[in-house]
Amino acid sequence: MDLNLSGQNVAVFGAAQGIGRAIAEQFEAEGCSVVGFDQSPDSPALKNTGEVTVGDVTSFEQVSAFADAHSETDHVVFSVGVGSGKFGFPFWNLDPSDWARVLEVNLVGAANVAHAFAPHLTQNGRGSLLFLVSVAGQTGSPTDPPYSAAKAGLINFMQVVAKDCAPFNVRANALSPGMVKTELNESVWAAGQVNLPVSEQQDYATWAETKIKIISPLGRWQTPPEFATMATYLASKHARNITGQTINIDGGQVMHA
Ligand SMILES: NC(=O)c1ccc[n+]([C@@H]2O[C@H](COP(=O)([O-])OP(=O)(O)OC[C@H]3O[C@@H](n4cnc5c(N)ncnc54)[C@H](O)[C@@H]3O)[C@@H](O)[C@H]2O)c1
Repeated sequence: MDLNLSGQNVAVFGAAQGIGRAIAEQFEAEGCSVVGFDQSPDSPALKNTGEVTVGDVTSFEQVSAFADAHSETDHVVFSVGVGSGKFGFPFWNLDPSDWARVLEVNLVGAANVAHAFAPHLTQNGRGSLLFLVSVAGQTGSPTDPPYSAAKAGLINFMQVVAKDCAPFNVRANALSPGMVKTELNESVWAAGQVNLPVSEQQDYATWAETKIKIISPLGRWQTPPEFATMATYLASKHARNITGQTINIDGGQVMHA
């Protein structure tokens, strides 16, 4: 299928690694000019533009300067995510002080990006925003409660963005992974090991193999390129009537009966 994305401009937040990196590279493969933004100073350069700006999405000043420097952006992808580093089950295994940074990065960071780009996208009268969310934001997952709550909030805000931007021919959607082997996912495994007796602790590979069979009907891990394929499709003309949707790529982990 020809996505006809060649020559379009894309900005990816969280472009240094993981799912965001795969999305950035897939847009490049489709002939787009891609710029990235990430807090990591170790991001590999992007092929066409080379540019991954080092910055923190919690700083509206940094995000809006980036948006203003790329005012002709057609598609914006928010693939930033952090956990608390702690494990719930129950939620009071965390401290109230664990919440602020997780909400700040996952939810306020995404709002910063939407606020910074909305004036440009609506003025240009074209384009899309895509937010990476999580199955955790749809199920009340106790694994990392502030993370689940932030993602639930982001799903809701994405719908607001979709409604407000629709009259300007700008779409917004959310892409929801279940389980993908990235640094973020390893941090969930690591947090879960901390309070276990040594005899019950598992290495990441063993944990991963067991866990996926328990929580996913299809029993297999998702991979970053699967999200990249969907991200480019959602940006394309073929998805011109898709807005306000949360699309699960999760092996069937979340099913709304
Ligand atoms: N991996 C999974 O199993 C999984 C599951 C559900 C949802 N997700 C979501 O998918 C998205 C991508 O996650 P991933 O698995 O690729 O994680 P990752 O840790 O590999 O990548 C996240 C990127 O965000 C960047 N980042 C973190 N905080 C930042 C900040 N304050 N400012 C700018 N950049 C920042 C990191 O440097 C990193 O490059 C996230 O939104 C995450 O919540 C992932």
